Amino acid sequence: MTEDEVVTTLRAAGCVFAEDEAAMLVKAASGDAALAAMVGRRARGEPLEQVVGHADFAGVRVRLRPGVFVPRVRSELLVREAVRRTAPGAVVVDLCCGSGALGLAVTRQRPAITLYAADVDPVAVACARDNLTGVGEVFQGDLYAALPRPLAIDVLLANVPYVATGHIPLLPAEARDHEPHTALDGGGDGLDVFRAVAAGAPGWLAPGGVLLSEITRAQIEPATAAARASGLRPEVVSDEDLEATVIVAVR
Ligand SMILES: C[S@@+](CC[C@H](N)C(=O)[O-])C[C@H]1O[C@@H](n2cnc3c(N)ncnc32)[C@H](O)[C@@H]1O
Repeated sequence: MTEDEVVTTLRAAGCVFAEDEAAMLVKAASGDAALAAMVGRRARGEPLEQVVGHADFAGVRVRLRPGVFVPRVRSELLVREAVRRTAPGAVVVDLCCGSGALGLAVTRQRPAITLYAADVDPVAVACARDNLTGVGEVFQGDLYAALPRPLAIDVLLANVPYVATGHIPLLPAEARDHEPHTALDGGGDGLDVFRAVAAGAPGWLAPGGVLLSEITRAQIEPATAAARASGLRPEVVSDEDLEATVIVAVR
């Protein structure tokens, strides 16, 4: 397949940035057969990052595989806010780590930390191990139960699933059909997993430690109420360019 043929195929499949994507696919493919297979996957709607096997996020290249949540540009706000609060020697946990993108991006800017990451999904855990080997330890399990021992966490990143169940059908097909719903679905108002993380946070955070989670603007009130109910002191940070909102809750 020539690059022009790839562009034509992608355009016919509705890819808006067909030229850019074609160039990436041609670069990533190891040969003609591999390229044809990758173009077919992309034309069927699989996220480009899963097809080429990586995403560039917050200054790091993150390895990806099919079925793993693709790190979103908006989550760069989470990384920025985490980095601001991370001192040398800090214990940082990336809970609900997916590919491990957030932890990886924080260690790139703050290398002198101890990093742990955890996720309930074995496919995500395997992917996070690809990204974090030599950088941090990765565990599998349900929220804090995945962590192997008590920790005094200074910075707790938790980009939990936070889409309200009723909004899942409204997501772009790329997410709805190619990312696991455990990575997206946060229950009735989208905050079920956040509430569980906030409820457990006082038992895991060091004094002065912070929990950082991405939320929607509509979730600001219930999320801050949940953080307060858990004994944490919440503030909210937004970035209009990134269209991102983060709750930062301090023990
Ligand atoms: C929105 S994705 C975020 C992934 C990654 N942190 C990122 O920003 O790219 C949410 C992740 O939470 C994981 N997850 C959902 N429920 C969980 C639970 N109860 N315990 C641990 N991980 C969970 C999913 O498997 C998914 O990888």
